[in-house]
Parts: sequence; C-alpha cells; structure tokens
Amino acid sequence: MTNKGTNLDPWYDSYADRTAGLSASEVRALFAVASRPEVVSLAGGMPFVSALPRELVTGSIDRVMSNGGGAMALQYGSGQGTPAIREHIMQIMAMEGIRGSADDVVVTTGSQQALDLVTRLFINPGDVILAESPSYVGALGVFKAYQADVEHVAMDDEGLIPEALREAIASVTSRGGRIKFLYTIPNFHNPAGVTLSWARRLEILEICRSAGILVLEDNPYGLLSFDEPAPHAMRSVDDEGVIYLGSFSKTLAPGFRVGWALAPHAIREKLILANESATLSPNSFGQFVITEYLDQADWRGQIDIFRGLYRERRDAMLSALGEYLPSLTWTRPEGGFFVWLSLPDELDSKAMLPRAVKELVAYTPGTAFYADGQGRQNIRLSFCYPTPESIRVGVARLATVINGELDLLSTFSSARLGKPIPLREGVGTPPPNIS
Ligand SMILES: Cc1ncc(COP(=O)(O)O)c(C=O)c1O
Repeated sequence: MTNKGTNLDPWYDSYADRTAGLSASEVRALFAVASRPEVVSLAGGMPFVSALPRELVTGSIDRVMSNGGGAMALQYGSGQGTPAIREHIMQIMAMEGIRGSADDVVVTTGSQQALDLVTRLFINPGDVILAESPSYVGALGVFKAYQADVEHVAMDDEGLIPEALREAIASVTSRGGRIKFLYTIPNFHNPAGVTLSWARRLEILEICRSAGILVLEDNPYGLLSFDEPAPHAMRSVDDEGVIYLGSFSKTLAPGFRVGWALAPHAIREKLILANESATLSPNSFGQFVITEYLDQADWRGQIDIFRGLYRERRDAMLSALGEYLPSLTWTRPEGGFFVWLSLPDELDSKAMLPRAVKELVAYTPGTAFYADGQGRQNIRLSFCYPTPESIRVGVARLATVINGELDLLSTFSSARLGKPIPLREGVGTPPPNIS
C-alpha cells in the first residue's frame, strides 16, 4: 500500500502506534529562550559539574589511555558492564545498606536507559504503572512511549502515602487493570523534594509484597543529603521484590552516561539481553574512566563538596521564598536538587511561564510531572545550577510575576463586582541586579 503521508512528513502514516506517546515537551521552545544568559533558570536539573576539579577527570582519562593505549576502554564491552565498575557500584550501594552480588548489577547508559529497559521488559500497552503524584518527567515519558497507563498515588511531606497506595491498588484492580510495578523515588524526590520515611518504606514494601507488585526504586540523589543521611534503600530489606536504579550522573557527572540497575537474579538476566539488544554494550570508555576515578580520587570527599554546595543553594532558595513569597507554600528538601512550590488555586503555572520568561526567570510548570494533566497549581524550582545570588534574583523575579498575576486577577474580579481595587505589597518591586 502506498504511504499517503502529509506535506510536512511523507512518512506520517508509517509510524508505529507507540510513537503517539512521543511528544516534544510543550515548554521546550520556551526553554530555548530561557537559556539566554540574562534569564535566571530555575527550570533544569543540571548538576553543577564545574565543582568537579578538572584534574580529577583528566588524571583518570590519562591513566586509562596510558594502560595499553586504552585498548580495552576503546573497545566494545560486556552487555552487563565491566566487573570492576560493578564491584565499585556494590561498595557505593553498601552506603545505603544494600548488600548483594556484583553479578546482579547491570550497567546502563544512565539510569534513564535502565528505566527504559525495565519498562520494555514488563509493559504491554494498557498495563498500569503506579507512580507518585507528581513523578519524574523522564520516567513518565518512557512509560508513555510503551503505552502504559500511569496511576498517580498521592504524597505528602513524608513521601508516598501508604493508604493512598492501598486505595490505588484496589481501584485499578476493581476496574480490571493489571499493575506491573510501582515506580518510586524515595530520596529527595524529583520534582517534589520530599523523602520517604523509613516506616513508610517498610509499609509500602509490605503492601506491594502482598499485592504481588514489583517495586522500581529510582535513587539518583540518595547520596546528596544535606545533613542526616537518607534512610536506607528499600532494596536493602527486599532483594526479591525490588529493582534498584542508581547513577553516576549526580555524584560525578552526567556526561559519562553511566548508571545501573540491581535486579533480582531472573530479571537481571533479561535486563542484560535487553541491554545488548539496545546498545550492544554500555559506554566502555565512561566505565573505565569512572573506575579509575573511584580507584584513585577522593570521590567521597567530592560528594561532600557537592553536598555542601547544594545545601548552600537550597538555603538560598528557601530563604528567598520566605522573603519574597511568604504567603505561598513549598517543600523543604533535605537533599537533592528540587523545591516544589504550590500556587494559589486561581493561578496556572503553565499559562504564566511566558510572562515569567519575559521577566527573565524560568521554571518548570507542575504539569510536566503528571501523566493526567494535573499540576497547574505547582512549579518545580531547581536550585542545583544557579549560584545563591542568582537564585535570590530568580525568586524575586518570580514573586513579581506571581504577584502581578494575582493583582490582575483581583483587578478583574473587583471590576466585575464594582469593588475598589486593593494594592498588593511588593508588586512591581524591581528584582536585584545580577549583572
Ligand atoms: C529521578 C530521576 N531518575 C533518573 C534520572 C536519569 O538520570 P541519568 O540517566 O542521568 O542517570 C534522573 C535525571 O534527572 C532523575 O531525576
């Protein structure tokens, strides 16, 4: 049959059904504008890699290359990842209470690819994935691409709410849905910034165990705590019902694209096959350089440097929010990169974004973190990349935008009701200069 296509894309009719789930971020175009230097971006989740001393990386690369001309590092490798990096990964996970065998680790192209592989292994179109409300935008993209139905489960300041999980399971089951796994980010959640308490970890594991639901524990931020270490991983108390995902992206650098999955043995076997079919082998060069770095550099000290830096930025953001937006509410992250801000009901974070960019501040609207269109009353603010001074400037600009919107709304509603127009404190206050 001939392909009809369209003027814009002659292959329009040929794409697989699953590509219907592939949509460009609605805010991508705005982010192009937001990357201009005069805009303070509180939007992206980029780690501050400039805090990684250059010589630590170049030293590792030099040593890799001087070992036989880097012959192994430049070659294809095993679909599971090198034994050396998998041993290091076991030591890293031991810091979160995880014990197990390096044989059950599968190295992937960032933990993003591990998310893709796990979803590919388990999801038929229409299967249900339970995910926090809100959830990581990159995971939602993968779930959508595999045509999963995402059922969001409510959270509060202690993370996922066990009772809400029970209700979600009952509701999906009663309408005949098939739940394949619970996707959770227990530590310093992206985007919500909250951490799942230890008591809840145990309760949630018990709920999933008794309902026969696999847990996909995604933990890229766990070692980036600001004060107390995060509770131990869920995988530390359940090695049969949990697939654990980790990454070097936030504790070293995302450019290496090295992450991993630790899976129950039978699943690990299938993950390796899926990994081989996707990439033949994960990035050999990245694995060799990271192994050298972990062997030689003070990587724990470097993580402490990152923690101190992000703590200072978190503090700057929380104090600026308290100063400029005292009537709103937000989460208080104890690690990681993100604060989740709640707006008054009458505001719409997505509609407001172009005006914010015009005021030279960018954020991610809450709608990005839901599969079902919720999130208009929320904003994710990232404090990982901008300096503390820029964070203050960005929050001040955001306050100008929010107060301006509220003023406009009250002007219209007052005009409708024939009331005098109240003036809001702080409206129009120019943001401090960052240049
Ligand atoms: C919760 C979460 N999971 C997974 C990823 C993917 O990270 P990477 O593929 O760089 O390991 C990210 C990146 O921001 C994330 O925030």
